[in-house]
Amino acid sequence: MSPVLELRNLRKSFGMGSGFANFFGGAPQQVVAVDGVSLNVMPRKVLGLVGESGSGKSTCGLMAMRLLDVTSGEIIVNGTDITRLEPAVLKPLRKQMQIVFQDSYSSLDPMMTLSQIVAEPFVIHGMYTIQERNEIVGDLFEKVGLDRSYRSRYPHELSGGQRQRISIARALALKPDILVADEPTSALDVSVKAQVINLMHDLQEEMGLSILFISHELNVIRSLADEIAVMHNGRIVEQAPTETIFKDAQHPYTKSLLNAIPSLDARKRVRRSFMTAEEITANIPKVSQADITTTANVSTTGPQLVNVSEDHKVEAIVEG
Ligand SMILES: Nc1ncnc2c1ncn2[C@@H]1O[C@H](COP(=O)(O)OP(=O)(O)OP(=O)(O)O)[C@@H](O)[C@H]1O
Ligand SMILES: [Mg+2]
Repeated sequence: MSPVLELRNLRKSFGMGSGFANFFGGAPQQVVAVDGVSLNVMPRKVLGLVGESGSGKSTCGLMAMRLLDVTSGEIIVNGTDITRLEPAVLKPLRKQMQIVFQDSYSSLDPMMTLSQIVAEPFVIHGMYTIQERNEIVGDLFEKVGLDRSYRSRYPHELSGGQRQRISIARALALKPDILVADEPTSALDVSVKAQVINLMHDLQEEMGLSILFISHELNVIRSLADEIAVMHNGRIVEQAPTETIFKDAQHPYTKSLLNAIPSLDARKRVRRSFMTAEEITANIPKVSQADITTTANVSTTGPQLVNVSEDHKVEAIVEG
């Protein structure tokens, strides 16, 4: 089976050329936000992308949706390389790919009714008659658990959870194959968070969606993700099926994220701690060439992402 979304060796650096560096005569600085990320989102599967703030998750998601240009690498959607397609050629393909953001308040136009917001993709792509649009929008409201009577309301009249339902309805209007969800529940209260996760789970099954679900919390995506990729400093440091990540994490950074999950057990809670950057570096696993299932390039210095089993990748130092 081929992936719905394939990211091949994606890189993104941002130039920080203005200001102090130039003033003092230094070279313009580059921030490497994404440093060689390869990921596959398979049909009808949810891939969770987890990492702390600044690890490069959103930059990956934005590049995947062609909302941000890549520095290098390729983005393949349903077998088509979309990395450098011109906007006019890209536009019809955009129907296949949608994104939901964390901050639904700023992504919903306050001057538009909820019905206009959800129908906007049809207007952009010139689809359906007005009557057909109304009907489909009504169905979409129902699908995301909002009463049809909300259609003439405005975003400010909604709660955070309801606004996120509207964002999801709009994203699903064109029946995309791939959805990028960038922390869609981070701004929500715990109970509302769970409702929105459940909704996404139901919609994913019903519509056969493939989802790249971005989160900084492992426990948020546990119930939704088939597979989890852990991102640290712009790189994937571990990737495995969700239960393997929870039972057999091998990279110190993944372990540190697991430690940070709030525990219901008060005794365990005391021991919660994050590792420092030095501790993480000092604890990067070492594997011997014999332990890895794929051939790694041993001449490369520094850690590399290797398969420790068929579906489990870990960034490790490979020793001869
Ligand atoms: N437009 C930009 N210009 C310069 N630097 C940027 C830009 N966008 C992101 N960065 C930098 O790239 C790195 C990765 O940012 P990104 O937003 O992708 O992280 P993230 O994992 O989504 O974090 P968060 O959990 O806070 O959303 C950060 O160091 C950030 O400061
Ligand atoms: Mg982000």
